[in-house]
Amino acid sequence: MQPSFFRKFPLFADLDDRELASIAAVAKTRRYAKDDVVFHADESGDVFCLIREGQVKVTMISPEGKEIILSLLGPGDFFGEMALLDDEPRSATVMATEPLELVTIWRSDFLQILAENFSIAKKVLAEISRRLRNASNRIESLATMDVYGRLARFFLDLAKDQGKVLDNGYVAVTRPTHQSIANMIGTSRETVSRLIHDLMRQNLLLSEGKTIYLRKTALDQFRSEL
Ligand code: CMP
Repeated sequence: MQPSFFRKFPLFADLDDRELASIAAVAKTRRYAKDDVVFHADESGDVFCLIREGQVKVTMISPEGKEIILSLLGPGDFFGEMALLDDEPRSATVMATEPLELVTIWRSDFLQILAENFSIAKKVLAEISRRLRNASNRIESLATMDVYGRLARFFLDLAKDQGKVLDNGYVAVTRPTHQSIANMIGTSRETVSRLIHDLMRQNLLLSEGKTIYLRKTALDQFRSEL
């Protein structure tokens, strides 16, 4: 792999050519099919992973076998840093939701890269901080909000993260499946479908293929209700 290939990852965006070459020297690629597990929670872990292409879901399985989705990660995102930093087993299961191409870096190389590049270490810490904030918000939602509130917050976060503002008063977002949304907000697929249909009946959102169009006034309404 050419060193310039690595500049596309936000984590390595500030590196000079020499530093990129040292990353290229230790990185490998791995491919997975949709639904492959990259690793399971509680396994020991030796690699740091960056997503070149595709998407993964980071999940935990409850004692009753219910899947809880902690996060969806896409191109440019990384995962697998925790087990390398705290020498504990993998904290969650990571599964490909689409054909996946990863760049992987072994533990000792990853730790050396962090030790030598403060800009990379700071970005990793900033991302871990962002994930902790998200987790805190989820704990708050689960403890204090009803399902409608949690779905409203889910759409607000989705719109903020990846929404495309259109001229016609709508914000377009890519829709995870109703089952995935349910597993993210702690409810059943049926409840998510019912609430989404209620919102559609009120013309607050439109669903077309894999895109949801959220009316901007709906987002304002969600914001004022939370
Ligand atoms: P690790 O524990 O090595 O393996 C599972 C990975 O999932 C973990 O590193 C993180 O990269 C990622 N992960 C764990 N919990 C969360 C979370 N709450 N949000 C986003 N990513 C997470």
